[in-house]
Amino acid sequence: MEGVRVITLDNPPVNALSFEYCAQLLAAIEAAERDPEIEAVVITGANRLFSAGADVNDFQREPPPNPITVRDVIAAIEASNKTYVAAIDGNCLGGALELALACDYRGASARSKLGLPEIKLGLLPGAGGTQRLPRLIGARAALEFMLKGSPVSAQRAVELGILDEITPGDVADDGVRFAKRVAENPTDDAPAKRRVSAREAFIATDVPMQAGPYVVAQAHKMVPPEEKGGLAAHKLIDAVQAAVELPFAFGIAREARLFDELVRSEPSLALRHIFFAERELSKVSPGVTLSLSRGEEVRQAGVVGAGTMGSGIAIAFAQAGIPVVVVDNDDAAVDRARQTVMGMFTYQVQKGRLTQEDAWKRAQSIEFTEDWGRLADADVIVEAVFEDLDVKRDVFRKLDEIAKPGALLATNTSTLDVDKIAEVTKRPERVLGLHFFVPANIMPLLEIVRGRATSEESLATAFRLGKALRKKAVLSGNAFGFIGNRMIFDYLGEAAALAEEGVPAARIDAVMRDFGFPMGPFAMSDLSGLDVGAAIARARGGAGARTGVLEQLVAMGRLGQKTMAGYFKYDKSVGKGREPIPDPQVDAMFADAARQAGIAPRDVSDEEIRERLLNALVDRGTRLLEEGVALRPGDIDIVYVYGYGFPPHRGGPMWYASTRAARSAGAPGSPAAVLAHA
Ligand code: 3HC
Repeated sequence: MEGVRVITLDNPPVNALSFEYCAQLLAAIEAAERDPEIEAVVITGANRLFSAGADVNDFQREPPPNPITVRDVIAAIEASNKTYVAAIDGNCLGGALELALACDYRGASARSKLGLPEIKLGLLPGAGGTQRLPRLIGARAALEFMLKGSPVSAQRAVELGILDEITPGDVADDGVRFAKRVAENPTDDAPAKRRVSAREAFIATDVPMQAGPYVVAQAHKMVPPEEKGGLAAHKLIDAVQAAVELPFAFGIAREARLFDELVRSEPSLALRHIFFAERELSKVSPGVTLSLSRGEEVRQAGVVGAGTMGSGIAIAFAQAGIPVVVVDNDDAAVDRARQTVMGMFTYQVQKGRLTQEDAWKRAQSIEFTEDWGRLADADVIVEAVFEDLDVKRDVFRKLDEIAKPGALLATNTSTLDVDKIAEVTKRPERVLGLHFFVPANIMPLLEIVRGRATSEESLATAFRLGKALRKKAVLSGNAFGFIGNRMIFDYLGEAAALAEEGVPAARIDAVMRDFGFPMGPFAMSDLSGLDVGAAIARARGGAGARTGVLEQLVAMGRLGQKTMAGYFKYDKSVGKGREPIPDPQVDAMFADAARQAGIAPRDVSDEEIRERLLNALVDRGTRLLEEGVALRPGDIDIVYVYGYGFPPHRGGPMWYASTRAARSAGAPGSPAAVLAHA
């Protein structure tokens, strides 16, 4: 349309605003600015999204001298007297939303998602977001939006006041029509220029400005301490405080300084490592990406076994909109599973996460039956029965008869040999492990275990399924304990060794909590069950001095949280029965075991406790890489961050170890310095 210039962000795959691309964008804006015929500019996106924001790759190296960044693009828009309209369709994240906030108007299609996810990378919105958002929607809502970092729907963005409207038609066409109208016929309600930067920041419509310091202080209290993963959150709050207290230009300068500090910070480097490691996961060998489109879509699933694991897996399918048939011959187990499922969906409705109708639909998509024949239509069947090779092999023989040709047969074993299970079928190429973590509907990790005969097509389908289930799917070789559990055995063994050297279990746990784990090794064992741990140790043939206390506790009926006693004691009136209470009896048992083994008690520093436990993980991780069980150090880090509570801001065990040299040499100073060590 005459007088309106459309600038389309087009930098596949995600229209990232790299330095290079920003230079092009700036040139396009300058060209529009020079053209006297142009009254308005509409910015929109190609490739089914607006843009994923700044190019994270640019933060991974020292910037070139005077790079053109999204800040420069925004400055040009800010200086302009023409009307700017952001016409958003699809994801509009990070720097891209900040670009949209600098426009005079913002419209989006209903399917769009808007967010400032920088906090998840240990950063803060560094292109004016922390200054414009408090002026647009108030500091309180802005803090919540940016500290959460999760994208919101277009509808929610309208409610918050971030978007002006949801456009019904083609966003760019609607944007052009709208831009022309306001540029040519501005009104008081719809002026041609409407800079967010010219507004006064406020706290919330119903909260006076004097409450600013209180809101800021509360926000600082609500986020974790700086050294426990809260560094970016505190800096972000500082930036919002600047928006409330300082003129716009000063606030922007403050934001830029805080952002530049964070880009170089260790937590952000670690979180960016996790970001990139996640995106590597489906590359199964150098150069071979398991194109998800190559895998088949799972439209119907089956689960064998209605125990805790089976029902969790069934819920995970239902949540992903995949109907699932659960087969179990034990009526009592089925009754319990039905209750678990109903309880879960009722809880989601109570929490406002699902409507009654959706919850009902999902619950209905899980069918419980005794009839194995109902599995005949499933594209994937996950076996989740008792952890016993013979039992599982029987199940697979049966499944091989029933399942349709091409169906994927998966075992949820955590310790057994996938090949020994696959060999009883006539389709070993379609057999693999899908190792879910308890509770399977909540834990984000999924280990995909490749058997000797598993085909790449099967793996591709499994990765596609992992994505549909919104899991972080990591490929593992078929080795005892796969990646995660194999490493945890060594970690728990080292914890027992420390206890035998005279360190109380409670102190060992406290050191690891202090490092950032949600719980220490002994509380973790109590949670998963000492009987389970002992059975695994026996299966591995590893019963010995270090499992002596474990075996004694099991013999005493102290099986962990479920019996209100394990390495620790539990009391229903303390922390809902989940709070570990130190038990001197257990420390005495370790002392006895040590005496018998001739181990003398010694003084052990917190640092030694931490480093020995972490080294146990790292040493095993290194061996798993050498053996080809794990493909990349980053895969191991994903397993630990998403499956075992390793603090994400420390990047996972392998990242932690590889950057140790840079850390002991002092502050990282530059991303390049740390990355050089990684
Ligand atoms: N920078 C660089 N590369 C990016 C990127 C980004 N912001 N976002 C995505 N990519 C890359 C991925 O690495 C991947 O590359 P690959 O094909 O080589 O593996 C490719 O784009 C596709 O990404 P996904 O596999 O994640 O694709 P999805 O379709 O599943 O998801 C997405 C798309 C929702 C955009 C998701 O990629 C995402 O959430 N990206 C991160 C968004 C983000 O964090 N933005 C903030 C950046 S920091 C910033 O803007 C700072 C500013 O305040 C100054």
